[in-house]
Amino acid sequence: MGALTLPTGIGYTAMIAAYARAQEAKQDNPLFVDPLADLFVAAATGLVPGTNLPRLGPIRIDDESLLWDFLSALFCGRTPFFDAHIKQHVGAGIRQIVILAAGLDTRAFRMNLPATTTVYEIDTPEVLDFKAAVLADEQPTATRVAVPADLREDWAGALTAAGFRPNVRTLWLVEGLLMYFDAAAADNLLATISSLSLPANGLLTETIIRKPVMQDVPEIVGSEDEAVTRLFMEAFRTPPYRNVGDWMSSQRWRCDEAVTLAEQLTRVNRPIPEIVRRCAADPFGTVLASSVKLQD
Ligand SMILES: C[S@@+](CC[C@H](N)C(=O)[O-])C[C@H]1O[C@@H](n2cnc3c(N)ncnc32)[C@H](O)[C@@H]1O
Repeated sequence: MGALTLPTGIGYTAMIAAYARAQEAKQDNPLFVDPLADLFVAAATGLVPGTNLPRLGPIRIDDESLLWDFLSALFCGRTPFFDAHIKQHVGAGIRQIVILAAGLDTRAFRMNLPATTTVYEIDTPEVLDFKAAVLADEQPTATRVAVPADLREDWAGALTAAGFRPNVRTLWLVEGLLMYFDAAAADNLLATISSLSLPANGLLTETIIRKPVMQDVPEIVGSEDEAVTRLFMEAFRTPPYRNVGDWMSSQRWRCDEAVTLAEQLTRVNRPIPEIVRRCAADPFGTVLASSVKLQD
């Protein structure tokens, strides 16, 4: 593998999510195993795959990191929710999946999706180039199509040019993106998804209820975790709705299931992180949801 350029800024959050997934495989009773996550960490750190993870930039994985305790619970706790819904949709016959802001998601490789499935992965050229370089020797079980595009611009054109068929039943996944979009950008994104969707299409989302602020985690200010906390906080925007069901119905989708991060962690038998427990509500207000497109 030649010299690699690591994604920066929001793109770097994809690296942090992959790091969390690599770490998950090393837990007792992991919620899932993502073997390729180790490859991304290895590429970023020079690590020999399969050995213990070293520190990666501002990421800390020792027991004293309130932030990492939270981030790893978020990044790993949400995975089984989306995996289960993807399996259900694929079981029901869906063969076209679009992952918006796919980052270093490896579902096209690790979920044993049928070979007749096409997975479109949209992200920035920077992230997709890094991913392509690291995964050059790996084979997905499904057809995987990388679509470099800015999800605030005309990404529908890029997706269609890449082969996406709007007249085919589709499952959309928007995990780890909407917190970076303000209300107008999120509404535009949902409008574009809707314009490319048939009735009964599925949409899986992760949204936040409110924009978090540094005052939610006062003890992190001045600690080693401050830099990565600021990376996230400064990128977060105010969401369009506090209730994902209301947002979905505003554009003719029906939300069938919505769980908070705390509820999801309880479902998968994982402890609620201190940051979530200490505040009356999850400070990042994460909600995972599954919705279905209605007739216009
Ligand atoms: C936290 S990562 C989540 C990645 C992946 N969905 C996951 O859960 O591992 C956020 C991703 O959003 C992508 N992203 C943010 N804004 C974007 C935009 N305007 N257009 C395309 N991708 C964007 C970043 O490049 C990054 O890969």
